[in-house]
Amino acid sequence: MSDSALIEEILQLKHQHNAIILAHSYQRPEIQDLADFVGDSLALAYKAQETTSDVIVFCGVHFMAETAKILNPQKRVLLPDLEAGCSLEASCPAESLAQFLEAHQDKNYYVVAYINCSIGVKAQADVIVTSGNAAKVVAQLPSDRPILFVPDHNLGNWVQEQLGRSMEIWNGACHVHMEFTAHQILELKDRYPDAEIVCHPECPKEVRDLSHHICSTEKMIAYCRESSKKTFIIVTESGILHRLRQLVPDKEFIGTTTAQCTCSECGYMKMNTLEKLRNALKNLEPSIELPEELLQKAAAPLRRMLELSK
Ligand code: 13P
Ligand code: SF4
Repeated sequence: MSDSALIEEILQLKHQHNAIILAHSYQRPEIQDLADFVGDSLALAYKAQETTSDVIVFCGVHFMAETAKILNPQKRVLLPDLEAGCSLEASCPAESLAQFLEAHQDKNYYVVAYINCSIGVKAQADVIVTSGNAAKVVAQLPSDRPILFVPDHNLGNWVQEQLGRSMEIWNGACHVHMEFTAHQILELKDRYPDAEIVCHPECPKEVRDLSHHICSTEKMIAYCRESSKKTFIIVTESGILHRLRQLVPDKEFIGTTTAQCTCSECGYMKMNTLEKLRNALKNLEPSIELPEELLQKAAAPLRRMLELSK
């Protein structure tokens, strides 16, 4: 079946089921183009919170669809490929966090969990953050309790650097962003001396230190639009290039290839395809099903974030 026939069927099924299609900026271009809304984790969480549709089709990875389900426990939330995971999520299993907290009960940690984690981790957190609001949220937290930040050590360190507040930081990371190196950025700087370097906070410190600006995927769009520069080296997953080129058409965006992979792609994000999206809408499967107890426990820190980040 051609892409256009698939798209037509998807739009018809979407209408039939009163569904909304939410897509992350790392999704395949053809999925971004037909989605009702494309954004970063934070914008997608707000969108999931406010939607009146009966069905949410989440084109992203598992933890993002889980987030939509936590905010809409009564709704059907579909993820076109249930195997779409996240290496950062995997770097902090819920049981390991539970053991750590048990072993350090005396510390009475205030647990800040980056949204890239499982519902089991969210359920143990006091507040959730995204890359778009981490510093803003942490700046508002009680100063009389030590903070444990999980799972991304790069994002945690970046927040710590900005706020000057020391935190205990989990040693997790994203395999895509960890591939970017200072050597590679220096080479690109040589090749494009007038370009601004914009990186995601999940990048290692050596890369962040060479960047002109560090921000979430969504903020990259506003930053590049408003900057007086014409050329940008974008250091994150390549899917965002499609959006940047669409929304800021008068500027040039250079992607960043990595040592192991010439594409800086998140394989998990690319698991969703038009065909799987069509099948999900046709069968109303695969859907996100989560234990009631975890849904309730994870909702409080997530809603706290949405309040603190307004
Ligand atoms: P954003 O919060 O910028 O959408 O990032 C999500 C993500 O998975 C980055 O790798
Ligand atoms: Fe997870 Fe990294 Fe993929 Fe983002 S890019 S979804 S952090 S594996």
